Amino acid sequence: MNSPAPSAFTRDIPFSDDDFRSIADLAHARFGLSLAESKKPLVYSRLARRLKSRQVQSFADYLALLNRAEEEDERLELISALTTNVTSFFRENHHFDILQRGLAQELGEKVRAGGRLRIWSAGCSSGQEPYSIAMTLLKTIPDAHARDVRILATDIDPKIVAKARAGVYSAEEASGVPAPLRKEWMATNDPSGKTYAITETLKPLVTFNELNLMNDWPFKGPFDAIFCRNVAIYFAPETQRRLWQRMSAMLTPGGLLFIGHSERVTGPALENLEGVGITSYCKSRASAQPTLQ
Ligand SMILES: C[S@@+](CC[C@H](N)C(=O)[O-])C[C@H]1O[C@@H](n2cnc3c(N)ncnc32)[C@H](O)[C@@H]1O
Repeated sequence: MNSPAPSAFTRDIPFSDDDFRSIADLAHARFGLSLAESKKPLVYSRLARRLKSRQVQSFADYLALLNRAEEEDERLELISALTTNVTSFFRENHHFDILQRGLAQELGEKVRAGGRLRIWSAGCSSGQEPYSIAMTLLKTIPDAHARDVRILATDIDPKIVAKARAGVYSAEEASGVPAPLRKEWMATNDPSGKTYAITETLKPLVTFNELNLMNDWPFKGPFDAIFCRNVAIYFAPETQRRLWQRMSAMLTPGGLLFIGHSERVTGPALENLEGVGITSYCKSRASAQPTLQ
């Protein structure tokens, strides 16, 4: 959630407990979000801007609008308003250390032997996470482009996926990339030096797609590693348990799952996942082959 306080125009719009519950129910049904009562003032301040922008006078009218089939864009505006896209390059760097160790050993051997390597960044926001994965990969497997190696990066928000695909970052955002990697994989084409663009040589390793994690996943996997960090934090406990189970089913035996710093894997997924570091899990090698969905 990252937007300013409501304007004078919107401050007077009545927002009843029923309005709040209806918004919360819709956000839960469509996106798996869990909005506690304590979030009511925050939800008001975020959504009041949407009402203003759509020139809607009441939350009842806004809800009616959100329920119209043709208002998919507004439903996506809703999720943008209720969640945050905050991210950074090499966020929680210890995850990239674990990935790199895996790439230096078994995963790298598999790739060099002609095997397939798939990594999924689920809830990739503006792309810093999958590009950090790609840079980590290329450190250990410099010829990854010529191998059967792909990174899938998905997010529910089409605007943020477009930004991720473009791969252009401010100097401040790019400062999170270690200098040697920035020099190799980011270019300052902009004469003012204010922006850095991911190079066209790095980009092909990553495929971006829009995907609501609550829906069916249009791919089979399996993945050698999944990054699903700081996404499930917004989901209801039962939705989280189901998500971890689906993700665990998508991992290869020995595959890695990385989650956000304030998240924990819960539920049946734990039967097949063991901790291998802070918020890092490995799928048991004894587990059955992945069963999907
Ligand atoms: C805080 S960002 C996390 C970005 C990155 N994973 C990281 O940890 O830096 C959360 C992202 O999750 C996405 N998101 C929220 N709900 C989602 C859903 N139901 N399906 C897919 N993505 C979702 C948001 O659009 C947002 O870009």
